[in-house]
Amino acid sequence: MAQGKFYITTPIYYVNDRPHIGHVYTTTVADVLARYHRMRGEAVFSLTGTDEHAAKVVDAAAERGLTPLQWADRNAAAFQETFKKLGVDNDDFIRTSQDRHKTRVQAYVRKLIDTGDVYLGEYAGWYDAGQEEYLAESKAKEYDYKSPFNGKPLVRKTEKNYFFKLSRYSDALLKLLEERPTFVQPDARRNEVIGRIREGLNDVPISRQASGDAAAAWGIKVPGDEGHVIYVWIDALFNYLSTVDDDARRAFWPANVHLVAKDILWFHAVIWPAMLMALKIELPGQVYAHSFWISDGQKMSKSLGNFIDLERIDKYVETFGLDALRYFLANNGPMGTTDSDFAESKFIEVYNTELANTLGNCSNRVTNMTSRYFEGKLPAKGPHVAASEKFATAASDATAKYVRAMERLHISDAIGAAMDLVRAVDSYIEQTQPYKLQKDPAKLPEVGTILYHGAEALRIAAVLLWPVIPAKAEELLRRLGRGDDAAKLADHGKGDFAAWTQWGLLQPGTPITQAQPLFPRYQPPKPA
Ligand code: MSP
Repeated sequence: MAQGKFYITTPIYYVNDRPHIGHVYTTTVADVLARYHRMRGEAVFSLTGTDEHAAKVVDAAAERGLTPLQWADRNAAAFQETFKKLGVDNDDFIRTSQDRHKTRVQAYVRKLIDTGDVYLGEYAGWYDAGQEEYLAESKAKEYDYKSPFNGKPLVRKTEKNYFFKLSRYSDALLKLLEERPTFVQPDARRNEVIGRIREGLNDVPISRQASGDAAAAWGIKVPGDEGHVIYVWIDALFNYLSTVDDDARRAFWPANVHLVAKDILWFHAVIWPAMLMALKIELPGQVYAHSFWISDGQKMSKSLGNFIDLERIDKYVETFGLDALRYFLANNGPMGTTDSDFAESKFIEVYNTELANTLGNCSNRVTNMTSRYFEGKLPAKGPHVAASEKFATAASDATAKYVRAMERLHISDAIGAAMDLVRAVDSYIEQTQPYKLQKDPAKLPEVGTILYHGAEALRIAAVLLWPVIPAKAEELLRRLGRGDDAAKLADHGKGDFAAWTQWGLLQPGTPITQAQPLFPRYQPPKPA
């Protein structure tokens, strides 16, 4: 399976949280990429899930009179339902409280103890209880010994812990980042990681003490030492491996892409590969760290109450449709190194200009003119008109550009390549004016040429856009007489990308359906 397989992961989300736009974003982008690779005929495995063993889960459950597992069940279900509702077609959903994960994590940690990469030592440090992480002395000082996240005082803690010998891997990590420049992307993030490794690596604690702790029963015990629970971050990172660590799935490893945001890059770009090196397990292809969505110009935070939460997400879907939300996230999201602003005005602008005007209008023009002038049947290719023959090249150029961009995870450039093809159809129609030509019956074959080329270019654009806007792209394919292709795509992304992006698949005489606008223009309600 080594060739033609694609395994992509998202972070597994803290089960104490309610899903919000940040989680939805990463998982949707992973879904777009998974769909793209499925449509290419690759064996794809896309994974998302929940991270459940945080000590906070125990407290949150107790406050509600529930067991940690009952509380986790409830919240994990909320994530699963949300992703399903938002059209995410993941292949599995891992929960770290599942036995399949827990038993494997114990085996990995046992092996690390055996190799001497994990040892029992003593740790004293500044602990941020809210984040469940220790801060380096310099960082603790910088924040006046308060949590950079919630401002609560940091706690000085000394404990016996198991440590992972991260310091041992500093040279190997630097070599990795040098030899495989795309291991961490984007480049600026890679450089940050290199800079921090050069400052020196300390061994990292990978357990907390279980004794007398209400959280003792919640979490994965260190094998052979019931007094310690594996630190939630270490437990969580192993999900990427544990989920595919069986005979049926092993060939998916190594993951091709771990998609994360910049907040958790260190764990993924340094601690995770070092642990894999210690276990002598092949490293993933890439860790891609995107930036953050902010909301109306400000960081989203609980205290500001400006989270784009589920309620607001539902409202967008209700008003504009699911594909419009997916398009906005993929097209305008923070895949680079700058944050993106989620603002309603921006959403409306993108919806109206790109989806309603460009894609929607152009599709409706082509199908409606075909329907009116050719009794709903695709006309013959006809005689040369203006630059008609250039469309085949334009379509193959767009496809090549799209593929290059998708392979680099530059999703908005990929979308741009497809939309440029749609815009080319629009300007071709403007230039050749088929609606005027058709008045002269002698010119009908020329009108046929224009509409044939328009329809064929739109068909290819629909294929390219399918990973982002699956339902609307399938609808457009059906209107263009390619219902079978749409049905294949709807069947877990089966596709024949190479054939479908060839020019000339549409057969003259194919019935073309006129229908309601693909994306109706949005008119904001007038203030009362
Ligand atoms: N449980 C850990 C991850 C363990 S992975 C082995 C965790 N969970 S989290 O619930 O806090 O999710 C963090 C991730 O959510 C980010 O890395 C990112 O993928 C996503 N986002 C959370 N807020 C976000 C934004 N405001 N914008 C974009 N994505 C963000 O950390």
